[in-house]
Amino acid sequence: MTALLFATSEAVPLVKTGGLADVSGALPQALTQLGHDVRVLLPGYRAVLQTLGSEMRVLAHLDLPPFAPARILGGTLPGGVPLLVLDCPPYFDREGGLYQRDSHHDWPDNHVRFGLLSRAAAVLAGEASPLDWRPDVLHCNDWQIGLAPVYATLPGGRRAATVLTIHNLAYQGIFPPGVLPALGLPWDLFRVDGVEYYGNVSFLKAGVQFADRITTVSPTYAREIQHEPLGFGMQGLLSWRSGDLTGILNGIDTEQWDPAADPLIAARFRATTLPRKELNRKALRERFGLEALESVPVAGVVSRFANQKGLDLLVACAESVLALPMQLAVLGSGDPEIEHAFRGLASKYPGRFGLQVGFDEALSHLVEAGADLFLMPSRFEPCGLNQMYSQRYGTPVVARATGGLVDSVTDGDQAVDGEAPTGFLFTEPTPEALFEAISRAVAAYADRRLWRRMQRAGMARDFSWTRAAGQYAALYQALSGEPGKAT
Ligand code: ADP
Ligand code: GLC
Repeated sequence: MTALLFATSEAVPLVKTGGLADVSGALPQALTQLGHDVRVLLPGYRAVLQTLGSEMRVLAHLDLPPFAPARILGGTLPGGVPLLVLDCPPYFDREGGLYQRDSHHDWPDNHVRFGLLSRAAAVLAGEASPLDWRPDVLHCNDWQIGLAPVYATLPGGRRAATVLTIHNLAYQGIFPPGVLPALGLPWDLFRVDGVEYYGNVSFLKAGVQFADRITTVSPTYAREIQHEPLGFGMQGLLSWRSGDLTGILNGIDTEQWDPAADPLIAARFRATTLPRKELNRKALRERFGLEALESVPVAGVVSRFANQKGLDLLVACAESVLALPMQLAVLGSGDPEIEHAFRGLASKYPGRFGLQVGFDEALSHLVEAGADLFLMPSRFEPCGLNQMYSQRYGTPVVARATGGLVDSVTDGDQAVDGEAPTGFLFTEPTPEALFEAISRAVAAYADRRLWRRMQRAGMARDFSWTRAAGQYAALYQALSGEPGKAT
């Protein structure tokens, strides 16, 4: 059994901007169910304090200059996993996003906000922790906790082993060198085998440099990031550390995302009652203002509108797609240019192209349940969750062959060992290649038996966290047995 401190900057159902929150909500729970002693560390954002407020008690005071004084509050995540909240109102108790003041501007003090989170994680994982609980392993997630392995190596006695999971290498936590004093880090760490990264400080690079082990969220992405272009400048360091780098495909929360029990969809269904999916399509069409067209499939999108997601490819081929028997239902927000282009399509093709701008958890379930096809034309995708939700909801996927999409979607043309296809993959990041894949899907949709087989194959797949949790547990086990964690 491993005692694990899982440090993260977001976790469902408390705070979420993307898949990291889903992972942080589900993986600790799956590890707990395997018998491990897990605690989650999360910042005390306003939403967290408001949701858990009176249930939390003060466990410790942290005075870690040059950071503002903070407290550790104890609570419980809704799934039952013990939660440690880093309460520092000047840093976290504010209106606005988790990382951004508004959709265009990061918080100017992100370095100290997540510097403190990293520092606190390292303190709680070390000998000097004010808690009477000591983890064997500190699991850090993304750049926000990237400095924790650095702080953990500063003198201070025995410490936990450190694992850093990269959920997305495109976000590297880069700040000018002048932030070092505000982070309480010595200038001698500003070197190429320290926290320096092309003349700046990078929290993620620091984590990759100092963590005992590095993981990322799919085996394919673990290979892709060791080379250009997906190494985003860190390919050299990552391939140098390849012996310590593994890819573990994420799971999904199969209770929250269960078409047979989902309270957020119009009609619950399972593989044996697939015709009921049509009731969800009806509800979806109503929500997105789509016409009730016989035998025309609806393709769904639920996504951040970010360059990563390749939605500009969809914009570029949308007119051709809408010339097919096809309707589109798009839910998302982000990049104003993409949003503008989608709004243009929605007004040009009323009844065929439906758009909902915003972040709407409940509606995302209805899209998965009601769409016939799901689109993920990502330029890169470390893992991706929606393609797994889709398959579980009997919705074949059109996806670009990258990262976790390769590891979780089976294309009929590429299936090995008689594996049943669950989607359509395309390779080139071009509108033409996306359109070709969508056309293949439309042709397959017309073959009702083939389509049902694809739907059932997706629904039968095991995307539960149990598999991934077992792989993480083996990694922790190997690490906590290693000597030499005393500094
Ligand atoms: P990423 O973390 O890169 O955005 P993932 O596929 O790993 O991509 O996870 C995205 C998560 O965020 C999924 O749970 C998805 O359903 C959700 N999501 C993204 N955009 C929206 C939205 N506009 N409304 C509701 N949920 C969304
Ligand atoms: C990131 C990635 C996404 C992954 C998620 C959870 O947000 O963009 O592909 O699924 O993290 O690991």
